[in-house]
Amino acid sequence: MTQPKRYTVTAALPYTNGPVHIGHLAGVYIPADIYVRYLRAKGKDVIYICGSDEHGVPITLRAKKEGVTPQQIVDKYHEIIKRSFAEFGISFDNYSRTSAKIHHETASTFFKKMYDDGKFIEETSMQLYDEEAHQFLADRFVTGTCPKCGNENSYGDQCEQCGTSHNATDLINPKSAITGNTPALKETKHWYLPLNQYQDWIKEWIVEGHKDDWKPNVLGQVKSWLDDGLKPRAVTRDLDWGIPVPVKGAEGKVLYVWFDAPIGYISSTKEWATREGKDWEPYWKDQDTKLIHFIGKDNIVFHCIIFPAMLKAEGSFIVPENVPANEFLNLENEKISTSKNWAVWLHEYLIDFPDKQDTLRYVLTANAPESKDNDFTWKDFQARNNNELVAILGNFINRVMVLTHKYYEGVVPKATKDFSALDKIASYRDSIEKSIENFKFREGLQELMNLARFGNGFLQEHEPWKKIKESPEEVKNIMFVALQISAALAYLVEPFLPFTAIKMKKLFNLSDIAWNEIKSSIDQPLIKEGQAIEKPELLFEKIEDEEIQIQLNKLAASKLDNTPQIPPQGGAKGGVFPLRGDLGGVEVDPQKAEITFDDFTRMDIRIGTILQAEKMPKADKLLQLKVDVGIDQRTIISGIAQYFKPEEIIGKQVCVLVNLAPRKLRGVESKGMILMAENSDGKLVFVSPETMVDNGVKIS
Ligand code: 2FM
Ligand code: ZN
Repeated sequence: MTQPKRYTVTAALPYTNGPVHIGHLAGVYIPADIYVRYLRAKGKDVIYICGSDEHGVPITLRAKKEGVTPQQIVDKYHEIIKRSFAEFGISFDNYSRTSAKIHHETASTFFKKMYDDGKFIEETSMQLYDEEAHQFLADRFVTGTCPKCGNENSYGDQCEQCGTSHNATDLINPKSAITGNTPALKETKHWYLPLNQYQDWIKEWIVEGHKDDWKPNVLGQVKSWLDDGLKPRAVTRDLDWGIPVPVKGAEGKVLYVWFDAPIGYISSTKEWATREGKDWEPYWKDQDTKLIHFIGKDNIVFHCIIFPAMLKAEGSFIVPENVPANEFLNLENEKISTSKNWAVWLHEYLIDFPDKQDTLRYVLTANAPESKDNDFTWKDFQARNNNELVAILGNFINRVMVLTHKYYEGVVPKATKDFSALDKIASYRDSIEKSIENFKFREGLQELMNLARFGNGFLQEHEPWKKIKESPEEVKNIMFVALQISAALAYLVEPFLPFTAIKMKKLFNLSDIAWNEIKSSIDQPLIKEGQAIEKPELLFEKIEDEEIQIQLNKLAASKLDNTPQIPPQGGAKGGVFPLRGDLGGVEVDPQKAEITFDDFTRMDIRIGTILQAEKMPKADKLLQLKVDVGIDQRTIISGIAQYFKPEEIIGKQVCVLVNLAPRKLRGVESKGMILMAENSDGKLVFVSPETMVDNGVKIS
């Protein structure tokens, strides 16, 4: 494509059956955000579109599990997701939701147009049916053995192991996810998109047309589906949660979630256009618009085959120019899982590290799963923050600021000599640009850090601190160059670390410029002679071992209690989590009889750390613990053996009633009681401080 006139950039609509985690961020939202921030800096006409995906079986299942309605589920998670994206600096131009009226209308109209144009096959067939639940079983309502790879836990629509997309009736040994029953077969009518009719066109468009510019992982998956031969695919479902199928004879049926969700990109664009007083159509219909979908690898078939076939069949839309799908991110060597609460949740991260958005953005970009699955570990997070952000970028900027204040009272000195080092600025900019244009964000970030390394090396080589007395004129030249590199970093860092960019621009009093203006010479510097800079401030803080230990403890705890904690309404920042994230409906014991303040003060409750834990012989329920409660290290026998493995709780901070009269259990004296809460599944969870505190600290 020659220079496009505009860009429509979409990021996969997250399902609102849970909050967003680091896997989503690394795979989709951060890379897309870097891309659009760069395009904006280039002065391009670009929109960044997203929204909540609120239909589909996972939401219905979650609602059933929590005993609430699907609408309550989507309302809750939509708010959490939207707010945490905003606090994290994901710069969507519009974040909509598929329960919005505009979306229902857009998806219905889209279906109707295809229906009227005869683009569907209408077919009555036998489908899986749960006779106990009175429900047809499609998609995630049914699991069974994948006909392709033999995975015994494949879903009805897709196998997560081999990535194949299939029909529920293809599963071997299907089981209902609602009752566990083996389904019966029952007749029902559905509308099918005959993907086989688009096989040749997709082959020509992607396999031949984009063989050089699409990522190998994406091309590989597309080729494999084409090799298997595309088959008609049902785009309607017998469900009561979704967008009603807008044709006669389809009462009680809804659109398949993967039919309506990608249309969500279009309805979100319409919402944006209405708000901004713009026309949405060129962003989806003009041939000179570049449409880019950022997704994770499990979404490739939907964005490279099904949605493009829909766009083509509808007839008036463009198709994507690229679909830069990422692979998956694991967490501490295990697959991230919403249902198992094995994740670092964005809204929780924002509470634990309220001013460290950019550290997470940095780590997830430096370690992004661009070409293969990667692993996030808290130790690596700490190391990259301390050894790279603090020690390389932060250190360079701090040295430049401190020296400028020391030698020139914070004013940029006059340079007289043209250093070749200044030319480096434009060449680093160009190589960062090339990496971003090619969706190689790790490489781009690496280049950015190389410029900071170059700055540090430049200071080290020229040693202004040794020359300031004898050669003050030379030092002015050296510092002038170092200040230009600092200013360049302030601009170039923006797509990757936007919060740092704001700080740096403030520190150096820089105004905004376009990407192509990021270059410097003695006559046209980025920061001019005589310009005052602010007092030095550290850009990044070190992360201590204790902060990492808290996160590791949290992960250990989530092996036991797999409910992500949900912040209250009104912003994650500074918010206080309730202990559980349910929507009410749990029976709560009535309040006990009133006590006086004196009664309360007689209880001595302290923070302690579990140092040792072992099972008590011949006692199924008891663990013998050694707990450091500040006053001493004491033995406490606790009835928690059914809920915790001893090795999982070592290092955990807990609340201990230390002045409870000692008592002997199985011959061992127990001195105190550990405070616990019971979750809705009847499991015990610790009541722990939100951040590490000293042992022996009183709770009052
Ligand atoms: O995989 C998912 O999380 C889906 N909700 C992505 C939908 S992307 C688009 F098509 F809406
Ligand atoms: Zn499979």
